[in-house]
Amino acid sequence: MTIRAAVMGVGHYLPARVVPNAEFADKIDTSDEWIKSRSGIERRHFAAPGEKTSDLATHAAQAALADAGLTAADVDAIIVATSTPDLTFPSVATMVQARLGMTRGFAFDVQAVCAGFVFALANADGLIRAGQAHCVLVIGAETFSRLMDWEDRTTSVLFGDGAGAVVLTALPGQGDASDRGILATDLNSDGRFQDLLYVDGGTSTGTTGHLRMQGKEVFRHAIEKLAETAHRSLGKAGVTAQDVDWIVPHQANLRIIAGTAQKMGLPMERVVVTVQDHGNTSAASIPLALSVGRARGQIKTGDLIVTEAIGGGLAWGSVVLRW
Ligand code: ACO
Repeated sequence: MTIRAAVMGVGHYLPARVVPNAEFADKIDTSDEWIKSRSGIERRHFAAPGEKTSDLATHAAQAALADAGLTAADVDAIIVATSTPDLTFPSVATMVQARLGMTRGFAFDVQAVCAGFVFALANADGLIRAGQAHCVLVIGAETFSRLMDWEDRTTSVLFGDGAGAVVLTALPGQGDASDRGILATDLNSDGRFQDLLYVDGGTSTGTTGHLRMQGKEVFRHAIEKLAETAHRSLGKAGVTAQDVDWIVPHQANLRIIAGTAQKMGLPMERVVVTVQDHGNTSAASIPLALSVGRARGQIKTGDLIVTEAIGGGLAWGSVVLRW
């Protein structure tokens, strides 16, 4: 018997304020047409003043637990993928733990920028298969609006705030690709590329800092590395791209999403796309897309899904799972 980490519930939360592209065109030298044609983004949500990453994360966690028919008392561990914690420490995960009224188990954050949720899923899979936890809440939550330089038109129009969460529990399987749950993971990073995408603040400056990105260079790395990692995890799972029901990619740019699907030989009809409504929500984008894809009726029980993401580091990876 093989133990699998299977998705039992999914949920998301988006702050109330919706910011259409036109709002940027009023303030900086840009246009709805440029943003849409270069990125696919039409609108994004921004957190209200005082609304924190831990607030978004808690709402998403509650939605995922309700979807799973479970309560905080059933959860053994919480992992939050985020690069925008409320405070340098403690972790957002421990804040969520307290807000959920959970007084046992353990909680920690994972920071791999836009690839954070993929890294968090791989961690949760390891904990469950090693028998250290039976039920893990995995959350991606971000308030990237707090990292924007509003004078910089090359970055400020691309990002949004939000949170998504899944509940994973241990489920016995056969050990083959027909099992429900996480079937394979593939994680990578290469710190030589850290200057392509970073935030220029932290303990070295005593400030939160602003996001800086060489967009064209990140774009160049993205399609090649995402298709490669997806193929590697599909291979580890013993399936091919043709077996995939849904690609649920990190939602950074529609051209990256389409280019990766094309490189994998899959049509856009098999890709869950939410970037038009959310912008790039970094580690929150994949669980948001999983939750929206489920709510739209795209993702069904038994579907084979591949998720892939790349972000600052560079860090990138993929997960193959059967829903
Ligand atoms: N409005 C109008 N014009 C703009 C804007 C804007 N908002 N931003 C840039 N431009 C201009 C540039 O100044 C440039 O003008 P120039 O030719 O006179 O110099 C022109 O548009 C073209 O700019 P490029 O940067 O070459 O545009 P490109 O087609 O590469 O698109 C983009 C830019 C959207 C950033 C793209 O490169 C991209 O998506 N890169 C990947 C970004 C990404 O995925 N980042 C997330 C990674 S995940 C994470 O960890 C955060």
